Amino acid sequence: MTKIIDGKKVSADIKEEIKIEIEKITESGQRAPGLAVIIVGENPASKVYVNSKAKTCNALGMYSEKHVLDAEITEEELLKLIEGLNNKEKIDGILVQLPLPKHIDEDKIIEAIKPEKDVDGFHPINLGKLVIGKNGFKSCTPYGIMELLERYEIDLNGKDVVVVGRSNIVGKPLGIMLTKANATVTICHSRTKNLSEKTLNADIVIVAIGREKFLTEDMVKKGAVVIDVGINRDASGKLCGDVDYENVSKKTSLITPVPGGVGPMTIAMLMKNTVKSRMEKI
Ligand code: GUN
Repeated sequence: MTKIIDGKKVSADIKEEIKIEIEKITESGQRAPGLAVIIVGENPASKVYVNSKAKTCNALGMYSEKHVLDAEITEEELLKLIEGLNNKEKIDGILVQLPLPKHIDEDKIIEAIKPEKDVDGFHPINLGKLVIGKNGFKSCTPYGIMELLERYEIDLNGKDVVVVGRSNIVGKPLGIMLTKANATVTICHSRTKNLSEKTLNADIVIVAIGREKFLTEDMVKKGAVVIDVGINRDASGKLCGDVDYENVSKKTSLITPVPGGVGPMTIAMLMKNTVKSRMEKI
């Protein structure tokens, strides 16, 4: 029987730990950590994420600012806002919700955020630090996956892990984190040949490609651990992951559901990064 990895429960535990840390900060007379979230345009999914981030900040006793910008805003105006937040004392973290409208260069925006406030861990400085094992901000979704694996005591030492997806936000940083944790990592992607051959050999399969029910039962070995990073909507509008959960879960030892798996962890790790940023100034 498979066991479900309950990301909702783990994220609630982490948020509770963070709340206590924040209380300690404020009880000692210091200001609470502050996070600024920026959203450009009307992407409905982005709106949900950003609202949820701001709401979580408030629930944990953090200061938060939400900047809602028109889709037509110029790159220059957005850069100006970031510059202001970079210099604002009570802001410890800046998050620009992606994707941005086409006329804005995402790389330029990410690079404009001060690395010390880049709680998303997307800045090249933080990604570079991750690669060489230096202390920086870790990208929240892969960081959340590592935390889930740790809290469920999933041994990574010498294990074969296949990551399907090579994005800068998930696949690439996750590959580095897993390697540091002594796993043997294979990163697969849309051009990978004989993908099933690779996933069938894996002790752990992590899928982050954004394709509904992409990982099927015949691609997974019995007893494997499966982590689903996908957030898609099926034909009836229901939320579903990149994994055919109903059938794959018959073979796994542990599996994350969608919703309630990796998703809630991303916000918890964002809060953790914001507190880390604050603590570095105390
Ligand atoms: N868009 C989808 N996921 C994320 C995330 O983790 N951070 C930001 N900034 N944008 C996103």
